[in-house]
Amino acid sequence: MSAEIENPVLEIHDLTVTYSKKPVLWDVDMTIPKGSLAGIIGPNGAGKSTLIKSIMGLVPIASGYIKIFDKDLKEVRKNVSYVPQRGSVDWDFPASVVDVVMMGRYGHLGFFNYPKKADKEVALDALRKVGMDAYKNRQISELSGGQQQRVFLARAIAQQADIYFMDEPFAGVDAATERAIISLLKELADKGKTIVVVHHDLQTAPNYFDWMVLLNTRLVAHGPTQEVFNDENLKETYGGKLTLLSEISKLLENKRFPAREAK
Ligand SMILES: Nc1ncnc2c1ncn2[C@@H]1O[C@H](COP(=O)(O)OP(=O)(O)O)[C@@H](O)[C@H]1O
Ligand SMILES: [Mg+2]
Repeated sequence: MSAEIENPVLEIHDLTVTYSKKPVLWDVDMTIPKGSLAGIIGPNGAGKSTLIKSIMGLVPIASGYIKIFDKDLKEVRKNVSYVPQRGSVDWDFPASVVDVVMMGRYGHLGFFNYPKKADKEVALDALRKVGMDAYKNRQISELSGGQQQRVFLARAIAQQADIYFMDEPFAGVDAATERAIISLLKELADKGKTIVVVHHDLQTAPNYFDWMVLLNTRLVAHGPTQEVFNDENLKETYGGKLTLLSEISKLLENKRFPAREAK
């Protein structure tokens, strides 16, 4: 299924990525429109993290190309924010919480400039938004996994980028915090920022995202949630092996999505 859109902020053409000659992404073509809160959905090993990493230039691509704001990543990197999947990074380096969030500001500073009071304010505001301001002077290594995750989200928010890539940002985060963060992301999307989130919970996915990418090595479908989040596409994505699928069918019958209002 193809979705033709005007002004895609992210455009991927014929993307193939292989690890030791084994394809993990195969001929992926997709676009994401500006202002989307988009979900990348698929089973374990589907290539979701690899897709985000190839967008961020972190894995070599075998063929194809990727454009962000119609440009190469290196031209727009300052405007692109990335939160890696937990477990893929060393979270134990020595730095305080506020220092970690301040790293989000570095792209905004001139080469010889030190962070200004205004940068610190942006960082503290981001910490407030994820409910972590009380921890600002703690060492990042002392925090629980969910708290670290919130700090890294704060760093991404402090960057004030135009497009955000977040790989399973809710892993280890409690349900109340997850709801708070998703409403924060919806606010950002409503302001015209584009948010792309790898997410594995099918129950919440249709309520969170207005655009979806269904992936299993190949692209199964991408487009507005109402058009692509259906039984047939989910079966193709998960190979019918998912017991959850019957519950998803019920969800679809009740049409309990999308939660976001049309703009
Ligand atoms: N650095 C790597 N070297 C070799 N194989 C990898 C590497 N990273 C991921 N893979 C494999 O590529 C496939 C896709 O992985 P990944 O993108 O992490 O999937 P997902 O995020 O959807 O769970 C999996 O089969 C995984 O084992
Ligand atoms: Mg992953």
